[in-house]
Amino acid sequence: MRLSTIIFIIILLVIIGIQFIEVKKTNPPVTADLNAPMEVKTIFQKSCYDCHSNETKWPWYSKVAPVSWLVSKDVEEGREHLNFSDWEKLLPAKQRKLKEEIWEEIEEDKMPLGNYTLLHPSAKLDLMKKQTIKKWAVGN
Ligand code: HEC
Repeated sequence: MRLSTIIFIIILLVIIGIQFIEVKKTNPPVTADLNAPMEVKTIFQKSCYDCHSNETKWPWYSKVAPVSWLVSKDVEEGREHLNFSDWEKLLPAKQRKLKEEIWEEIEEDKMPLGNYTLLHPSAKLDLMKKQTIKKWAVGN
């Protein structure tokens, strides 16, 4: 066998092998979903819910390692910082603080994450959508 063939087979086996490493891809129950005006909620659902709620849509490539590792890490971290599925359980002071952070992230174009909008271009926020969120989040 040629060396290149052996290397190819090894790479193939590694790629197959890593598919068996388990990653967390769960959607826990939604208990206190955000209650906000429809136009606001629709934006969040379209642009943020995949990482900031328990209603993540896991596309096929999110099931293939090593992409699955990156995606599940984003979702896990995203939910830790902000989980719209728990929103109504939060104290008003916490909600206020999160709203400020939400607007900050959006104003600085940090959210939704760039690697996400690359694959979900429709999740990008135009000026109108940003304005809608701003009004809800910080009131002007
Ligand atoms: C692809 C996954 C993904 C999407 C989509 C996404 N986020 Fe995030 N978000 C994260 C991750 C991961 C973190 C934590 C690490 C960081 O701050 O970069 C985070 C952090 C945050 C934080 C906390 C920042 C801080 O300093 O603690 C806020 C607020 C936030 N996101 C808002 C949003 C909003 C609003 C949207 C939709 C417009 C959104 N995110 C879309 C993954 C995502």
